[in-house]
Amino acid sequence: MSKPETRPAMAMQPGASAQPTELPAGSLLYDPPTILERLDVTRLFPKMQPLEVELGCGDSTFLVEYAARHPDRNFLGVERLLGRIRKLDKKGRRLGLTNLRGIRIECGYFLQYLLPPGSVTAFHIYFPDPWPKKKHQRNRLIQPRFPALAYAALVPGGRVYLRTDDPDYFAQIQQVFAAAPVFRSIPTPDELANMWTDFERDFRARGISTLYAAYERD
Ligand SMILES: C[S@@+](CC[C@H](N)C(=O)[O-])C[C@H]1O[C@@H](n2cnc3c(N)ncnc32)[C@H](O)[C@@H]1O
Repeated sequence: MSKPETRPAMAMQPGASAQPTELPAGSLLYDPPTILERLDVTRLFPKMQPLEVELGCGDSTFLVEYAARHPDRNFLGVERLLGRIRKLDKKGRRLGLTNLRGIRIECGYFLQYLLPPGSVTAFHIYFPDPWPKKKHQRNRLIQPRFPALAYAALVPGGRVYLRTDDPDYFAQIQQVFAAAPVFRSIPTPDELANMWTDFERDFRARGISTLYAAYERD
């Protein structure tokens, strides 16, 4: 599969004029016309607003609640499992959210090839698959190349929020970002720290600690 061409960064002007969207009537799930070109995010939402992306959003418990609290931002959930991304659609429509969309795709590919440069204000990555066996760890989302990919997709000052229950993966996350001087470690904002994801509720109910990290690009 050939790599799509890079387009120039899109200006994400809050409140810019409405664009036609390319979603089936009534659905919040976006099926890109091609995966060989970068997304035109201006066509995903009725209003141009800062865009936050959750990679591996699961059943979107967090994203739906966060999108409902922040109607002045757009939110995109990325998830590979159809049954889970359908929950984003169902929950978001029930609340009448117009600032929430979901896309069913592999999130590493999405980050590298589909997100336009400078289009995202924040990534949320909560409990990515830990791949605990040594020989499988190359499948982890947060790899040495991750900061460069996130950097390219983020606006200046854009952020990456991460959580995991896996101490080994947490150490890898910290090492990978420590080696990327274009990012600085920041505290997780209180509002986010007080919102648990679906998996996190389960971990905490079982007495499993969850580890948080947050980074801001220059
Ligand atoms: C442990 S769950 C966490 C879900 C959610 N973030 C939460 O905290 O409740 C990880 C999710 O990421 C999805 N996922 C894992 N690897 C993925 C990939 N490469 N691309 C897209 N989704 C992925 C899984 O299907 C699953 O729904």
